Amino acid sequence: MRVVVTGGGGFLGVRLARALLSRADVSRLVLFDTAFPSQLPQDPRLEAVRGDIADARALAAAVTPDTAAVFHLAAVVSGAAEADFDLGYRVNLEGMRLLLERLRGCAHPPRVVYTSSVAAFGGDLPPVLDDATTPHPQTSYGTQKVIGEYLLADYTRKGFVDGRALRLPTVVVRPGKPNAAASSFASAIIREPLAGIDYDCPVGPQTAVWLLSPRRVVEALVLAHDSPPEAWGVDRVVNLPGITATVAEMVGALARVAGDGVAARVRYAPDPRIQAIVRTWPARFRTPRALAMGFRADPDVETVIRDYIADEGIRLG
Ligand SMILES: NC(=O)c1ccc[n+]([C@@H]2O[C@H](COP(=O)([O-])OP(=O)(O)OC[C@H]3O[C@@H](n4cnc5c(N)ncnc54)[C@H](O)[C@@H]3O)[C@@H](O)[C@H]2O)c1
Repeated sequence: MRVVVTGGGGFLGVRLARALLSRADVSRLVLFDTAFPSQLPQDPRLEAVRGDIADARALAAAVTPDTAAVFHLAAVVSGAAEADFDLGYRVNLEGMRLLLERLRGCAHPPRVVYTSSVAAFGGDLPPVLDDATTPHPQTSYGTQKVIGEYLLADYTRKGFVDGRALRLPTVVVRPGKPNAAASSFASAIIREPLAGIDYDCPVGPQTAVWLLSPRRVVEALVLAHDSPPEAWGVDRVVNLPGITATVAEMVGALARVAGDGVAARVRYAPDPRIQAIVRTWPARFRTPRALAMGFRADPDVETVIRDYIADEGIRLG
């Protein structure tokens, strides 16, 4: 089958690509993005197409009528969508609509796996959210993700696509440099100290985060694709399982894995702009539907850190 990953040059896109290339049923894998890392997996089935998701012609080059599955990851992330209102709507909403329109022209309704976010939730929330909690996003990014969920559900209802949306927790640990996502601190408090760099954390130690590792997210994306339509029914959105951890608990786990000296590299330097966004995000969930569908969380933060160290080939001093 021909599979397209939008945002295929990004953090999760490249990791998903590796998982998809391990499958014999993927005959062609197209990564669509505005930019790609210098090193992509070496595989004759892989094609990297550079283009803007909000440009119908560019999209048409990647999404051909024989496309069987699309993983739609391309997005302007939270901090950037909040800072640039027009860019967020163009990429996150107009891009989604153009993609769905393009998919209407496919030979068979393609499976579409869409990465939504817990940023869908905000406002007056219960202490623990569950599958029945109504999204009231309090950021432009969260609003764009929820509209995307509704569009996906409606195109599914009409039989144009077979859509599945996952509300991802904050994905930790993200390698590389801090990015524009307001959640960037959640990875930086682990990654930067492990790289020997002091880190000024923009939120306080009691800030709680709902998190999931990249390994578990990639597993979830693949499971979301593989599960039969009956597993979803009319509700095409699921809150993924995760772990709740405060910044202080994450730094404590880092100390147990890598030593007190490494953990001491985290300092606190509150940033009101980041705190205002993060405060709107929920950190505690019950996810019975996702668990019944086979999605799973990491066992604990220490495992998340150890997996990151193993995946990135980091040597502890
Ligand atoms: N990482 C997280 O913590 C997290 C949490 C919740 C949801 N998500 C969602 O998961 C998806 C992937 O996130 P990620 O962490 O890999 O982020 P990322 O920024 O690494 O990847 C997004 C990719 O989209 C691409 N992109 C941006 N604008 C584009 C455009 N106009 N046309 C084509 N491509 C464009 C970027 O170049 C980037 O490679 C996103 O939809 C994000 O909103 C991520």
